[in-house]
Amino acid sequence: MKGIVLAGGRATRLGPASRATSKQLMHVYDKPLVYYPLSTLIHARINEILIISTPGQLPLYEALLGDGSQWGCAFSFAVQAEPRGLADAFVVGAEFIGDDTVALILGDNIFYGWGLGEQLQRFTDPDGAVVFGLWAHDPQRYGVLELDEGGRVVGIHEKPEVPPSNLMVPGLYFYDNSVVDIARSLPPSARGEIEITDVNACYLTEGRLEVCRLPFSTDWFDVGTFDAMLDAQTWVAGQQRRKGVLIGSPEAAAHREGFIDTAQLRHLAAAVDHDGDLDKSGYGERLLRILELEDGLG
Ligand code: G1P
Repeated sequence: MKGIVLAGGRATRLGPASRATSKQLMHVYDKPLVYYPLSTLIHARINEILIISTPGQLPLYEALLGDGSQWGCAFSFAVQAEPRGLADAFVVGAEFIGDDTVALILGDNIFYGWGLGEQLQRFTDPDGAVVFGLWAHDPQRYGVLELDEGGRVVGIHEKPEVPPSNLMVPGLYFYDNSVVDIARSLPPSARGEIEITDVNACYLTEGRLEVCRLPFSTDWFDVGTFDAMLDAQTWVAGQQRRKGVLIGSPEAAAHREGFIDTAQLRHLAAAVDHDGDLDKSGYGERLLRILELEDGLG
């Protein structure tokens, strides 16, 4: 399975901080926001990844991430000239996807849960589509699931005024190859975008949408506003300090999933590939602590 990180958009809700940079390059505590969704894909054992951004910002992602080989990955880059909607990722990425299945993650979505990676690995060869359901007290801000009395999903709605349930659909989706044709055939919505929710509704109509409920304890952030950014920063800092882990680290994820070995991780931690920056920030030290933690946990 291939993966796409969508890191486009104008991030107007983060103005003026976003005026001269990309939201997904801003830092969430000790690493750029885009590291978190990348790590989620890596935990799903996906390492062929396309990063989509705007023409002005794409070179910044190339400078930050390189070709991915340092993390046992292969990164490609593509431009989305206009923000035409999330589902446009499959049109922009059609050539990259080729005949494969594909996962899409939004560049501003942070996921964290114990065992989440193993859970995601079950969905990397979907026959149809897989989306997730997560309890939210304010579901009307997102895609929302509609359930019948037996708890079966009968509808999926984008930002409904009156949400039919508290189960929202976070920005991580797994699809078979037909998603490319579905995205190409969709008309734009009232806000002029081709909506990911319409893609999912299409699969639902065909009886090919699987919905996986994430545990209530799953941590999830959509970092679209200053308050959400602050919440995510505080949460990451607190978790890392208390547990001695690194959340959303592609290096740690790549090591855990077997894309790089311990020698390569030590090499990255010693910052040879990063001009010494990592060590100065303490990031390299935190990476080395991962090895101790893995030893400690067996
Ligand atoms: C998008 C999707 C929505 C999803 C959300 C998750 O909304 O359209 O269905 O629940 O991401 O972050 P947006 O953030 O583009 O408003």
